[in-house]
Amino acid sequence: MTPHPPRPSTPRRRLAALAAAAAVLSLLSACVVIDSTRDGSAPPNSTAAATNRETAEQNSARLASALRSYAVVDDTSSPRLDVHLFGLPGATSLAAATEKSVLERFRSAGAFAGRQAFSPVLTAPDQRWDAERFLSPNLPTPPTGSAAAQAPGSAAASASAAVDLSNRIVAAGGRYLISTLSAADGAAQAAGPETAGTRAFVTDLETDSTVDAADLFTVAVDPAELSADETGTLRLRGRTVAKADLTDLGRDVSATLHTPLSLPADADTRDPDFSCALLPCVALTYDDGPGEPEIEEALLAAATTANVRLTYFLLGRNVKNSPEVVARMAEAGHELGNHTFSHPQLSTTSVADERSEVAATDDAIEAASGIRPGLVRPPYGALTKTAAAALAHPAIMWDVDTEDWRHRDRAKTVEAVRTGARPGSIVLMHSIHPTTVAAAAEVFAAVADKGLYAVTVSELFSDQRLESGAEFFCRSYATPLCSNPEHPAVHRD
Ligand code: NI
Repeated sequence: MTPHPPRPSTPRRRLAALAAAAAVLSLLSACVVIDSTRDGSAPPNSTAAATNRETAEQNSARLASALRSYAVVDDTSSPRLDVHLFGLPGATSLAAATEKSVLERFRSAGAFAGRQAFSPVLTAPDQRWDAERFLSPNLPTPPTGSAAAQAPGSAAASASAAVDLSNRIVAAGGRYLISTLSAADGAAQAAGPETAGTRAFVTDLETDSTVDAADLFTVAVDPAELSADETGTLRLRGRTVAKADLTDLGRDVSATLHTPLSLPADADTRDPDFSCALLPCVALTYDDGPGEPEIEEALLAAATTANVRLTYFLLGRNVKNSPEVVARMAEAGHELGNHTFSHPQLSTTSVADERSEVAATDDAIEAASGIRPGLVRPPYGALTKTAAAALAHPAIMWDVDTEDWRHRDRAKTVEAVRTGARPGSIVLMHSIHPTTVAAAAEVFAAVADKGLYAVTVSELFSDQRLESGAEFFCRSYATPLCSNPEHPAVHRD
């Protein structure tokens, strides 16, 4: 278990890999020189090739330091999953295209287990690939259509009950990134051509748009046959692509690949590249604040250090007292929700009072931060159907109660998260207690160590509709209990 949030690779391993790559490249370049000077004269473009090679190496190194690594590995279920994906902060269109394709393949292979959605699995962070494994441009194509893999009863037949996917970078330069998503699994191949084999994408990092790499070519191409040489020159079936075979976009991209890579500038590296439909997520929520400014500042600092975003459910009266703290929470990119103005039990509050409690708090948070909250957490989790309907917001409950307010114990808070949090969980804590804030760094590390991705509540449900008047206890993957008020994890007053 790693004590820190996962990184694609350690600097030392990355350096070692780059050194190895450089050694291979220098061997390759030696071959090129010997080959091209066989007639005794240097080729006119050797300087350009050397420059391109240097640019390609620099682009590769830039990517290695920016890429993030994700793994969905489950050896116990059927189909077995062995999925390795890179993400690039800011390249959301590529992540979305990749995720869509991955989930399609999961569905066709039976990984949804008869449900509407995939249930993300916990995968230990040490299962994630190092960045350089996504950067090998000329990896051998996975074998396709192996008859043995589909022969029933054979040892290879069990391999057909596996989903083995990875995405890789073919080439990158300027504003463009070319990547592939490849399946090495018999099951996906058996599911039909639309889910089999390799897909290739071209991403414009400047506009954050991703299209099929087929758009680069005037001829039909097999994406699995797409590669690039050490100078960053596109290749098809191992040969340099003829200009006539490239569309206008293709010519633009292939020329731009020889220029320095321009990575997305304003990416928020706290957002996982893939959604909670694929990744196991957890939302860490903090109620009753803002508390004492120095306590809240300590929590904000811990969240910054761990590179995570939190969700605060704030009390209107406290917001009025410390609007500057609320502004800092918003500036830091955390989600702000409504916890009523004076913390009444809404199940025994009149509808008129309930509405004014919620509206006054929305107003106070908006005045302090410029953000009008979309979510409400009812105090004590106390709601009746009437009270829930009168909220006019979705009610965000929780499935992991740390009871931090009761025991006021740092270690117990950490342990409650460590043992209770599972994919889709909403964890209840309170930012007004120093013991809770003291536990924060360990809480963040505990969820990261489990392979959970800490997200805001809105991110947790980003692909689902949060209806006003409904109660949400966790993200529902496998059980309807998450959106059912009778969830056994919740104890009402
Ligand atoms: Ni509360």
